[in-house]
Amino acid sequence: MSLAPDHETVVSATSAEWWRQAVVYQIYPRSFADDNADGIGDFRGIASRIDYLAALGIDAVWLSPFYPSDLADGGYDVIDYRDVDPRIGTLSDFDTLVDALHAHGIRVLIDIVPNHSSNRHRWFLDAVAAGPGSPARERYHFYDGTGPDGSEPPTDWRSLFGGPAWTRVSDGQWYLHTFAAEQPDLNWANPEVREYFLGTLRFWADRGVDGFRVDAAHMLAKDMSRPLPTQAELEAHPFDGTHPTWDRDELRDIYAEWRTVFNSYDPPRTAVAEAAVHSSRVPLYASPQTLGQSFFFDLQLGDYDADSFRRIIDDCLSVAAASGSSVTWVLNNHDTIRHASRYGTPFPGYGPGGEPTRKHGGDWLLAGGDPVLIDAARGLRRARAATMLLLALPGSAYLYQGEELGLQEVAEIPDAARQDPSFFRNRAIEVGRDGCRVPLPWARTGPSYGFGAGGSHLPQPLWFGHYSVEAQEGDPASTLALYRSALALRRELQTGEVLEWAPSGRDDVLSFRRPNGWRVVSNFGAEPYPLPAGEIVLTSGPLTGTLPGETTIWLRS
Ligand code: NOJ
Ligand code: CA
Repeated sequence: MSLAPDHETVVSATSAEWWRQAVVYQIYPRSFADDNADGIGDFRGIASRIDYLAALGIDAVWLSPFYPSDLADGGYDVIDYRDVDPRIGTLSDFDTLVDALHAHGIRVLIDIVPNHSSNRHRWFLDAVAAGPGSPARERYHFYDGTGPDGSEPPTDWRSLFGGPAWTRVSDGQWYLHTFAAEQPDLNWANPEVREYFLGTLRFWADRGVDGFRVDAAHMLAKDMSRPLPTQAELEAHPFDGTHPTWDRDELRDIYAEWRTVFNSYDPPRTAVAEAAVHSSRVPLYASPQTLGQSFFFDLQLGDYDADSFRRIIDDCLSVAAASGSSVTWVLNNHDTIRHASRYGTPFPGYGPGGEPTRKHGGDWLLAGGDPVLIDAARGLRRARAATMLLLALPGSAYLYQGEELGLQEVAEIPDAARQDPSFFRNRAIEVGRDGCRVPLPWARTGPSYGFGAGGSHLPQPLWFGHYSVEAQEGDPASTLALYRSALALRRELQTGEVLEWAPSGRDDVLSFRRPNGWRVVSNFGAEPYPLPAGEIVLTSGPLTGTLPGETTIWLRS
């Protein structure tokens, strides 16, 4: 089938549009590499591994939050938006790291967390101290409670991490927190909040940052007019731009202001929205007048299945094209069970009504993460095939540290060692996200498998050494070698943003062409598929004279 007309224009990116088909590698700084042996990853640790990043062949890194934080939510509780957590480094270490990455041709995106600050941010401390009715409280959402003595929260809203979305301060008022109680929501109706973030974007752009990943981008605007709706009313409300707390139309104005800042730099700074919204709403975030790009989590949420991959790929390409943007393909990040495990669990990625859930594999973790219940070899085989498919799609690809090692999710973290608030607040229904945040194994052996000389802030399992960089280095069949080869070839082959499906004659085999003679065949099924004619330049697994099940190949003609 030829691609729908709106995909047919070949987009050739200018250098200012480097982001359109970039490979971005997400670094979770606390878990990448630890230079000063305190068990926590740091900027100098990242700097010491730049050769590794360069050899991987990525275009950019995205640094998850490194700001001063109490780590109530892995750093997404920011105490100071214009500084570095002393456990991670200093502003000067940051500058050195950015310069070194740039010198290796690697751009730098950083995480910006505008929906909420930490409860230890100066503004929140001031708000608590200043009392009800003060301008300091206007930077957040403080309200009187309900009930005869105000001892009931303003509404019955639930936090996304479980439990109530309101916490009471000692003078009796309540503040809103969509996430943990340590993450009070900022009031974006307040011009001071808006100005402060514009200044923060400039602060980092002036330091050479190339772009921003915008946390919870769909949540900033809120309609807090009275009477406030109930949780049931929030859930029943259409998500059409008028929802009181989710994906409101006035976000367009907020991000248009951000765009003015981005475009005041040469080249313009970029941004990618983390927005959990219906595809029809993506243009609000991804248009060139606003943030420019938005994550598409559809593949990450979906099953390993040819039909759903094809449907998702078509949908995402149309939505991105309609936004004037490119797709950001994602299979892994710091919030999700690693795909090498997800694809090996017998548990579905869909809820009872057939709706995709974020809990793909979550049931397995909740049931204790028993290794007997998971087929790790199959998970990895599928993960490698899916990644090769993803890396051949038009648009940008976001990779998460450790997936290039084929790392499995770490299920065996004792409760006492867990850190994620979603474990503590929601433990009846989820185990949390610590299992994909365990510090990386660089060496086969040693106290923290080469992460650092001082242990690791989340416990690493005994099997980690087997997945280490050292164990894979020099092995052409390793997952690391596959990622390196795929990224190098992608650089050679990638041209126009166009995909054309080719008939495969089988429902469980996807086949498509890209410009520049690049062909991709992915067998999602169990039955082998005849090898097509052409020069096979890369394969996700061994070939047997045919294309075996759960394997992807790239061909060049
Ligand atoms: C999305 C981030 O990816 C996640 O890690 C965090 O917990 C929430 N936003 C709240 O900031
Ligand atoms: Ca350290």
